[in-house]
Amino acid sequence: MNAREHEAKHLLQVYGQLPIEPESASGVYLNYGDRKIVDFYGGHAVACLGYGHPAMLKALDQQAKTVLFQSNAVAMEVRAAAADALADFAPGELNHVFFTNSGAESNENALRIACKLTGRNRIVAIEHGFHGRTAAAGAVTWGARKKWYAFPQTPFDVDFLPRDNAGAVPGVVTNETAAVILELVQGLGGAYDLDPGFVRTIARACQAMGAMLIIDEVQTGIGRCGEPFATNIYKVAPDMITVAKSVAGGIPCGALIVTDDVAASIGPGDLGSTFGGGPLASVMVSTVLDVIREEKLMDNIRSLSGQIAHACPVGPVDSVQGKGFLRGLKLRRSAVEVRNELLERDILVGTSTDPHVIRLLPPYILETKHVQSLLGALAELPEE
Ligand SMILES: Cc1ncc(COP(=O)(O)O)c(C=O)c1O
Repeated sequence: MNAREHEAKHLLQVYGQLPIEPESASGVYLNYGDRKIVDFYGGHAVACLGYGHPAMLKALDQQAKTVLFQSNAVAMEVRAAAADALADFAPGELNHVFFTNSGAESNENALRIACKLTGRNRIVAIEHGFHGRTAAAGAVTWGARKKWYAFPQTPFDVDFLPRDNAGAVPGVVTNETAAVILELVQGLGGAYDLDPGFVRTIARACQAMGAMLIIDEVQTGIGRCGEPFATNIYKVAPDMITVAKSVAGGIPCGALIVTDDVAASIGPGDLGSTFGGGPLASVMVSTVLDVIREEKLMDNIRSLSGQIAHACPVGPVDSVQGKGFLRGLKLRRSAVEVRNELLERDILVGTSTDPHVIRLLPPYILETKHVQSLLGALAELPEE
């Protein structure tokens, strides 16, 4: 019985799975039998430092031996240090952190704060965006209500804006809007980078209408786009950003980072989480951010991402979208087919909701030789 068959015995069968079962992993490689698979997917954009990074292993080992877990019922230096590091890394006035366990939970809390502070109950989201699978995050996820949103009603009214349609903004972002939530580069939507003019129009409309701007940086944040956050690239000033995935390099962790103004309106009892800000997650946040700085990984991302963009079109790839290490390769063929053909060549990439885009979300420690093997493999595939 292989692991897939074993899983089927007692795990609900809700995931489509790939035909590999990694037994170990190191650096950017997943090891499966005698195969070494270059991981351009990072477990849904989580493994930002790859596998077995010595700094991560050391920090985890030390923290596990010191205090494995305590909740927010007590203050801990390790949690304070993680919040310092994240606030330092975040742009502008985003200086205050609330730790969660996932992207959905971060978004859930951001939306809750927006409704509470504005006293409004309409949220604007962008077509093709993805924000998670809980009640509020699912409500602002494009297509969710048709596809899998099983709650009888959403917690607030939702208006969707067609992406990059700046002309539609004034009719949709109004003085009834509590917040606009968006991904600057839509991850699951195909690593599609929103038009900066569209984003600026939204930011201005939010200011004019007293609505909050929430940037979902769950996939784009923590250096992935070659800057600390995609917010730095788009030069907007959100009220809140949300993170998860790479923030602790593989230990479940999310966070909501808010401005001084928002923080001033939040008090005891407004938010809470048992596991959020636990010591293992906290020490990993500090470690991930230290390693990104010390190893100049954002420079590496910008340089290798540039190499990928420069080499395209190649094989079935027509064009490139996205930023840094959140790249979408737009294909002339089916993304699933190309993904499978690359996997046969020991290269793992992701797909997206765009049937013609494969998504690259590699660890930041990727090297030129890995990019060359991806490009070489793509060049061998049928173009049409
Ligand atoms: C942009 C974005 N927001 C939110 C989420 C939800 O994160 P999680 O699965 O940790 O709840 C995801 C997950 O893919 C995401 O890509």
